[in-house]
Amino acid sequence: MKKIIIIDGGPRKTFNTASMLQKIAEGAASVSEEIEVKTVRLYGMDYKGCMSCLTCKIKDKAVNVCKFRDALTPVLEEVAQADGLVMGSPIYFSEVTAQLRAFLERLIFPWLSYNDYSLTAPKRIPVILTYTMNADAEQARGVYQSMGIIESCLNRAMGDVEHVDAHNTYQVKNYDRYELAGFSEAAKREYRDQNWENDLQRAYDAGRRMAEKIIANQ
Ligand SMILES: Cc1cc2nc3c(=O)[nH]c(=O)nc-3n(C[C@H](O)[C@H](O)[C@H](O)COP(=O)(O)O)c2cc1C
Repeated sequence: MKKIIIIDGGPRKTFNTASMLQKIAEGAASVSEEIEVKTVRLYGMDYKGCMSCLTCKIKDKAVNVCKFRDALTPVLEEVAQADGLVMGSPIYFSEVTAQLRAFLERLIFPWLSYNDYSLTAPKRIPVILTYTMNADAEQARGVYQSMGIIESCLNRAMGDVEHVDAHNTYQVKNYDRYELAGFSEAAKREYRDQNWENDLQRAYDAGRRMAEKIIANQ
């Protein structure tokens, strides 16, 4: 079996990010019975970001999987063995959520050598990043800038990082119920009607592509 781990970094179990991740899972699973997909919801877990214990960098005992023990430990160990990694998050203040950020600290810091600044993951595996946000494609440039260092680490360590994002998402089911006058519900609805199915399809296709790559490389 080949394993794809999906890390859901959003709090809402059924909204935009979760829907995109669900489609990636469906797309991946549709490729072969050899593909197992497991989704981990970070918001259901109790864990910390990097504790700066530097255990991963002890002389002659350096490791590239975080050794700090909490609820994230088994997930990080599973990711180290996995064949594909998908991470999804709503965008909060132009970055991924605090939960996904904390996960990424624990994931990436052990890859980084402070001897020569090289980055070595336990395995080079394909990665998909899924961000959902109010921003349109143009406004989203700020998001990609904010995430630049983290994403360049992922790119250097993994080499195969694909984005499947959804812009200008519907934030609530009923805009009349909330103080959200800065958004035109009519414009949101029109954008959603024109794009959301396509976003979900792109997510499904990305999941398929990831699974196909994994099967082809086995
Ligand atoms: C605390 C908070 C901060 C947000 N900040 C941004 C932001 O900086 N840029 C943006 O485009 N959308 C922002 N949003 C909107 C969400 O990213 C967007 O609604 C997203 O699709 C929600 O994902 P979900 O439906 O999976 O929860 C913010 C939402 C919240 C709750």
